This record gives sequence, C-alpha cells and structure tokens, in this order.
Amino acid sequence: MTLNKIAVLPGDGIGPEVVAQAVKVLEGLGEKYKHPFQFEYGLVGASAIDKTGNPLPDATLDLCKSSDAILLGAIGDPKYDKDPSAPVRPEQGLLRLRKELDLFVNIRPIRLYDKLAGLSVIKPEVLKGVDFLIYRELTGGIYFGKKVRGEDFASDECLYHRYEIERVAKLAFKEASGRRKKLTLVDKANVLESSRLWRDVVMKMSREYPDVTVEYLYVDNAAMQIILQPSRFDVMLCSNMFGDILSDEASVLVGSLGLLPSSSRGEKYSLYEPVHGSYPEAAGKNIANPMATVLSVEMMLRDAGLIVEADAIKDAIEFCMEKSILTEDLNPDIKYSCSQMGDIITTLVLDGPDALKTKSLREANSTIV
Ligand code: IPM
Ligand code: MN
Repeated sequence: MTLNKIAVLPGDGIGPEVVAQAVKVLEGLGEKYKHPFQFEYGLVGASAIDKTGNPLPDATLDLCKSSDAILLGAIGDPKYDKDPSAPVRPEQGLLRLRKELDLFVNIRPIRLYDKLAGLSVIKPEVLKGVDFLIYRELTGGIYFGKKVRGEDFASDECLYHRYEIERVAKLAFKEASGRRKKLTLVDKANVLESSRLWRDVVMKMSREYPDVTVEYLYVDNAAMQIILQPSRFDVMLCSNMFGDILSDEASVLVGSLGLLPSSSRGEKYSLYEPVHGSYPEAAGKNIANPMATVLSVEMMLRDAGLIVEADAIKDAIEFCMEKSILTEDLNPDIKYSCSQMGDIITTLVLDGPDALKTKSLREANSTIV
C-alpha cells in the first residue's frame, strides 16, 4: 500500500486529543523521511450526528474510499447510552464504516512491556512472555445479523457464511506460521451452530498449514486462560463478539487499555484505531494516553512497508516505557499530559533520546512535576 492521503476521523470524547498526537508524530516522520503525507478530516460518531444528523455522513465515506489509509480516534457519547431506544446512535457510524469498507478483520496485538509488568493486576510471573495477536472477525456475526424487537421480546441473529470465516482464518493461519506457529480458535462449539461452522472451516484449513498447531478453546475457558496462562497464546482467532470481549479482557494484561492499538483490514481499505473507547470522563482534559493511537500509526506504517519509520515509533514508545514517561493511567506519580506525550514521542522519532535530554523532557517535566 502506498501511503499519501490519510483520512483522519477524530470522532468523539478523547478521540480528537489522541488523534492530534498521532498526526503530530506522522507529520514529523513525513518531514524527516520526505513522505508527502496529506491529512483530510472527516466526521464520524456522535460529533457527526450533532453536526449532520448522520453518524457516518456520505462525505466521510467518500473521503475514506479515496484515501490510502484511515486513522480513527474513538466513537461514543454517554448521552446516547441513557436512551436505549434512540434510533440514531454514534456506534452505527463505526459499524457501517466497517461494513461499507469490508474491513473483515481486526488485528489487536497484546504485547507486554516488561517495565510495566508491575502495573497489571495480574502477577508478573504469569505475565512473562505474553505476546499474542487477536484476529477478530469484524463484519459478520451477531453484530450484523437480523435484529428483531417486539414489545416483550428481542433477538439478534448470529449468522456466518463459510467464506466470511475462511478469509479471516486464512490471514490468521498465515500470521501464525510466521510467528510461534500456534493458532487458537475461540468459539462455543458445544452450544452454537455458527461456532461449529467455524471449527469445520479451521479444521479443514489446518491441513494446508501443517506446521501450525491448532488449539480449540471454548470462549468461557479462553476468558479464564487469558488470566491464568496468557503466554500460551500466539494467534487467537475469534468471531466478532468474542473478539470484542476478549480484547478488552486482554488489555488488563498489559496494564492499560490505553496501550492497545489495532488495524482493521479488507481487500481494499485499511483503518487504524486504538482499542479504547471515547472515555468521555477524560475528554478535553489533556490526560488521555495517546500511545494506543500512536501505536496504531506504527501498524499503519508497517503495513505500508515504511519499516524504518514504524521502528522509530516502536523505539520511541519503548524508551518512554523504560524512562517512565507516561500518562496518568500508567504513572499517577509523574504524569505527562496527552499533548506532552505527543511532543516527546515526536522529538524521539525525529532526533532520538539525546534530543530529549536537552529539550522537551525537561520542559515537560517542569510544567508538570
Ligand atoms: C470496539 C468497540 C466497538 C465494537 C463499539 C464502539 C461498537 O467496542 O471497537 O471494540 O463493539 O466493535
Ligand atoms: Mn470493544
């Protein structure tokens, strides 16, 4: 994928703040490595409803379709949660975007930073070696099945077609064969017919990947294993809703949901977004952790083959972890603001740690501590 035009959809809550930091980092990298990145902004979610009445205006969809990649902040506003019967909801914008762009897989890396092991509620010895990827199916299943609502009943259909499972399973197998060669299919095949189709597809496909060991786990057991023995996982393959739930659970391992990036891919389009939501309580306070969004940009750069640039972000984030340059979700004692983190990461990717010693670290510190 060539990376010139980037659609930026800041969305709701802390979305605009964290996205601004990621754009800052991208602008810096663009200048340094001479990439003519162009950013074009679009509305989505509650902020789009407020301005246009539509959570995914046509202009936003057109923008996404004419861009090389999409960077999204977060979606959601509590004012809609109070009214379960609201006909228009911010989340519809994100779900329609995923469907319209056919972003059928969402990839969520769960990687532990050693320095942060003490921050998780899970014991450090359990966390040793945790490094896995969640491959979540993103455009099917119960999220998109037929919805029926009567006065005293409601139902959500969980429908999967073989091809929908095959295309995401294939990517997961490929990923696993390039890593520790272990694939875990998470399902509920003892109860759900749709899960039995998932098993059938994965069992058949496993013959094409003899070097990959396949493990089948019921989702209830998987939820427990993520806490008891998380290092056993390499690539975890899930249907839409199981992947949604387990990825929030897995964020507990790394210490904060503010650290989890994601990429969503289809044949034609790619979207990058942090796993965390809009965190409305923190909106506008400049305290949100922008790392998940910056790490999502790292995934964007890597997918575009810009490895040096992606590695610069990886190193910068690792340096921040090492030196405890963190936002308050991770370090309540010496907390850096969202925008300071953006400045520091940008300085690091451009000029390395030495520049930081003399520049923004001291400035940032003096304004905060
Ligand atoms: C996510 C979010 C979304 C989802 C919501 C906002 C619709 O929780 O991306 O994980 O459930 O997919
Ligand atoms: Mn979620």
